[in-house]
Amino acid sequence: MILIFFGAPGSGKGTQSKIIAKKLGIYHLSTGEILREAVKDKTQVGLEAKQYMDRGDLVPDEVIIRVIAEKVLKGDIKNGYILDGFPRTLAQAKSLDRMYQNASIEIDRVIYLEVQRDKLINRLSGRRVCALCGEEYHLDFKAPKEEGVCDIDQSELIQRSDDHVAEIRTRLENYKDQTEPLVKYYQDQELLVRVDAEGQIETVSKRIFEVI
Ligand code: AP5
Repeated sequence: MILIFFGAPGSGKGTQSKIIAKKLGIYHLSTGEILREAVKDKTQVGLEAKQYMDRGDLVPDEVIIRVIAEKVLKGDIKNGYILDGFPRTLAQAKSLDRMYQNASIEIDRVIYLEVQRDKLINRLSGRRVCALCGEEYHLDFKAPKEEGVCDIDQSELIQRSDDHVAEIRTRLENYKDQTEPLVKYYQDQELLVRVDAEGQIETVSKRIFEVI
C-alpha cells in the first residue's frame, strides 16, 4: 500500500503517519526527517538544504527529488510506505508520477489533512522535540511528564529552528503558493481524500483509518 499524507505544516502529517504506518506495518518516509538527519550529519544534501530549511523555505526540487528517488524505488520498501511531506510542488508530483509509471507502482490514496490556519500556528509554535531521539511533544496537547525533558531518554527538549513565528508564517505562505495547487492535481486523478484533522490525535487517526 502506498499512501501520501498531505497538508499544511502542522496539520499532523508526521504524527499521523507514524501511528498509521505502525498499525499497518508499513514504512514511514518523512522528507523533513530525512533532511534534518542529513543536516545533522553534514552530508552534501544536508549542506545544500540547511539554508532553505532554517528560513522556512522549500529546498530546491532537484535536491529533494534526488533524495526521494533513492528511497522509494528500493526493493525492501517498494510495496508499502507512507510518504510524509512529499510531493510539495507540481514539479515534484509530476516527477513522482514518472518514477512510479516507470516502475509500475500506483498510489493508493492521498490523505489530505485539513486544519484551520490559526490552529496550525499554535501547533507549530508549541512543538518541542527531543534533541537525542527526536520524539515530538506539544506544550499543551502532548506535554512531557517533566517540563523540558524527554519522557523516553530524559534528554533536553528543543524548539525546531523553523518553529518560530516568523519562519512558521513563511512556511504557511510557501504552502499556499507552492503546495496547495496539488489538491486539484490529486483531485483530478481521483486520489485525494479529505480528512478533518482537528480534534484529538486519536480521533484524527480513527478518521484516517475509516477512509483507508
Ligand atoms: P517537515 O518536517 O515536513 O515540516 P512541515 O511540513 O512543515 O511539517 P511539520 O513536521 O512541521 O508538520 P506536520 O504536518 O508533520 O505536523 P506534526 O505531526 O509534526 O519539513 C521541514 C522542512 O524541510 C520544510 O520546511 C522544507 O524546508 C524541507 N522539506 C521537506 N520536504 C520537502 C519537500 N518535499 N520539498 C522541499 N522542501 C522540503 O504536528 C505538529 C505539532 O502539532 C506537533 O507538536 C504535534 O504534537 C501537534 N499535533 C499534531 N496533531 C495534533 C492534534 N490533532 N491536535 C493537537 N496537536 C497536534
